[in-house]
Amino acid sequence: MISKANINKFKDLETPFYYYDMEVLRQTLDACRDASAKHGFHVHYAMKANFNPKVIDMIQSFGFGADCVSGNEVKAAIDHGFDKGKVVFAGVGKSDREINLALDAGIFCFNVESIQELEVINELAGAKGTRANVAIRINPNVDAHTHHFITTGLDENKFGINIWQLPDVAVALRACSNLQFLGIHFHIGSQITDLEVYKNLCTRINEMQDWFEDHGFQVKVLNAGGGLGVDYYSPDNDIADFENYFQVFKNFLNVKPGQEVHFELGRALVAQSASLISRVLYVKNGLKKNFLILDAGMTELIRPMLYQAYHQIENLSRSSEAGNPDAATSIKYDVVGPICESTDCFQKDVDMPESFRGDLIAVRTAGAYGEVMASGYNLRDRVGSVYSA
Ligand code: LLP
Repeated sequence: MISKANINKFKDLETPFYYYDMEVLRQTLDACRDASAKHGFHVHYAMKANFNPKVIDMIQSFGFGADCVSGNEVKAAIDHGFDKGKVVFAGVGKSDREINLALDAGIFCFNVESIQELEVINELAGAKGTRANVAIRINPNVDAHTHHFITTGLDENKFGINIWQLPDVAVALRACSNLQFLGIHFHIGSQITDLEVYKNLCTRINEMQDWFEDHGFQVKVLNAGGGLGVDYYSPDNDIADFENYFQVFKNFLNVKPGQEVHFELGRALVAQSASLISRVLYVKNGLKKNFLILDAGMTELIRPMLYQAYHQIENLSRSSEAGNPDAATSIKYDVVGPICESTDCFQKDVDMPESFRGDLIAVRTAGAYGEVMASGYNLRDRVGSVYSA
C-alpha cells in the first residue's frame, strides 16, 4: 500500500521514478533468510533482478551470496561487499575478459553452460596458475509452466548442457586439470508459482547427482537456481512463499552428508519492494477508447511490452488513500507511455477512477527486472529512484 504521506511527498517530485519501500524489502529478506537458514540452505541473490546500489547494499547486509551473469555484476557484487566466497557466475556467453576477472576475484564457483566453456575456463585458469571451481549447469528438461519467454530448462533452450551430453562432460572434466568439479546447477525458469514444478526438479537433481557419483565425481554442491514467483495481482501481499518453497526441497531433494544446497533467488526478494511512479501527461478520449498517456513507458518498465506481463496500475491521486470521494467512478483506459512505438502500452482496458492531467500513477510490483531493464531509447533520461526511510 502506498501511504497517504508518500502520495503527498510524491506530489513535489519530478516523475517518473522508482519508489523503493525499504521496509518491504527488509521484511522480505528477513523471511527468506529465516526460511532458508532453518534447513541450512545457501541463498545467492540474482543480481540481474535489481542492482540498484541501495537495494544490493541491503541484500548484502543480510549475508546472502550473489548470483552474477556478467563480469560487471561480479565486480559490482564484490564492490558492494558481497563475500567473494559466495559469488557464483552463470551465463551462456562468458567472455574471456569476464572469466579472467572472476578468476582474479577468486569467486566461489562458475556455473558452466557448455563443454567448450569448460575448456576455455580450464585454459584461462591454467594461464594464471590457478584452479577454478565449476558446477555443471544441466538442462533438466523440466517444464516450468511459466511464460515461454522466461522458461529456460527445456531441451530447446540455449541454456545449460543437455543430459545426453553428460558423458562428454565427464571426459572433459577428467581432462581439465585446472578445474575443480564442485557440483551441479539448474535453473528452469522464472515467475514459477506452481511448487509442483520444483518437486519435478528435485527428482531430476537426484537422478543427476547419482549419475555423477556413479561416474566417479563427488557432488558437493546442489544448486537449484531461482525462479520463485510473486503475486503480481496482490502488490500489498508482500512476501513470497519462502517457507513452502524451501520445504519442497527439504522434502524431495536427496541431500547426502557433506552436501550443500544452494539457490539463486532474484524476483521473489525484490519484486514487491518497488513501484514505478509516473504522472498522467494527457487524457485522450477517442470514439472507442480512452487513453491515459503517462510520462513513463517501456523505457522505464519494459515487462508488460516484452512478456505481456501484468502489473497492477493505480491512480494514487484519485485513490481513497488520497481521500478522494470519487474513487468509485470507473472508466476504462488504455494506459500507455510516451514512446514512439505502438507496443508502448502498460495495459489495455484498465478500470480506473476518472483521471486527469497531473494525476500520480503507480505501476506496482516493479522491483524485479524493472529499473535494471530500463533503456535510453528515444534518448530518454535515466529513470530516478526514491527510497522510503
Ligand atoms: N539463476 C539463473 C541462472 C537465472 O538465469 C535467473 C534468472 C535467476 C537465477 C533468477 O531468477 P528469478 O528468481 O529472478 O526468477 N526479465 C525477466 C526474467 C528473466 C530471468 C532471467 N534469469 C522478467 O522480467 O520476467
